[in-house]
Amino acid sequence: MALRRRQLGNTGISVVELGLGAMDTPHSPQAVETVMSALDLGIDFIDTARGYEGSEHLLGRVIRERGGKTFVAASKTFSHTANGSQWEIDKSLSVLGVPFIDLYQLHDISTERAWDEAMADGGALDGLKTAQYRGLIGHIGISTHDLALARRAIESGEFATVMVEHSAFFPESAPVIELAAERGVGVIVMRPVGGSGRTSAMRGRIERGYTGPLTPANLLRYVLSNPAVSVAIPGARFPSRIIENVATASDYTAMDEPERRELEAEAARLYE
Ligand SMILES: NC(=O)c1ccc[n+]([C@@H]2O[C@H](COP(=O)([O-])OP(=O)(O)OC[C@H]3O[C@@H](n4cnc5c(N)ncnc54)[C@H](OP(=O)(O)O)[C@@H]3O)[C@@H](O)[C@H]2O)c1
Repeated sequence: MALRRRQLGNTGISVVELGLGAMDTPHSPQAVETVMSALDLGIDFIDTARGYEGSEHLLGRVIRERGGKTFVAASKTFSHTANGSQWEIDKSLSVLGVPFIDLYQLHDISTERAWDEAMADGGALDGLKTAQYRGLIGHIGISTHDLALARRAIESGEFATVMVEHSAFFPESAPVIELAAERGVGVIVMRPVGGSGRTSAMRGRIERGYTGPLTPANLLRYVLSNPAVSVAIPGARFPSRIIENVATASDYTAMDEPERRELEAEAARLYE
């Protein structure tokens, strides 16, 4: 079996459904090897951000060492102003060492105030549109932890992609993901295996003999079983995680509804 591809909404870009979230990857002695193994094993979508310390530098180093960018790169800005977001894009381009970034996102627009600022005249969205017009970025996306704002972003028609949390720990984002798919907005799933605290707890339980269904592999299967998702971006600091996640994504059967409900119930009991 092989990794499967999906469309990133209506962007015209197709990516392998398993990507890499490079937020924590730099905080590892095996950072470069982790990104290299992701690319070697076929992952072709990597998410970074100005706000992820060392992450754009790490990807820039990998791009240089490989002699060019061979993956779809997505970065983000915390800025809410047009000037600030353009400055951030210039910085991303120079740190990554590329002339063009495929997807640039407004980062963590999770309050009404953040939304109002970023969407106002002279706000960050205006800056991203200017950069797009100048040919510096391909598509504009948004990330949020607020599902009502995710819905508003999708309905606004301004964004090519939306990044939301989704997993058996957080199934409530499913309707928003469905809406995005209906509207041709690409869906990037952050925290697909539940985040570092929970995965560490899960790994500890498994080492102590737990044999139930709540495993990182099944959590990944849960997200990939949703056809409305474009790409899931589990974080990783070690090549071993990449190898395991690629093995899962290369050969899985989609979860049916009862299996999904069982995993959600098991996830809710993690800390009992
Ligand atoms: N836009 C936002 O506001 C926002 C917020 C959060 C995250 N994100 C994005 O989403 C990405 C992923 O989020 P996340 O890292 O918070 O959560 P996550 O992907 O659900 O969890 C990452 C954790 O899972 C562990 N892991 C991954 N694969 C594993 C496997 N096969 N077996 C055991 N453990 C495994 C990693 O371990 P190791 O680290 O030890 O390898 C890491 O601790 C980030 O990198 C970032 O790109 C965006």
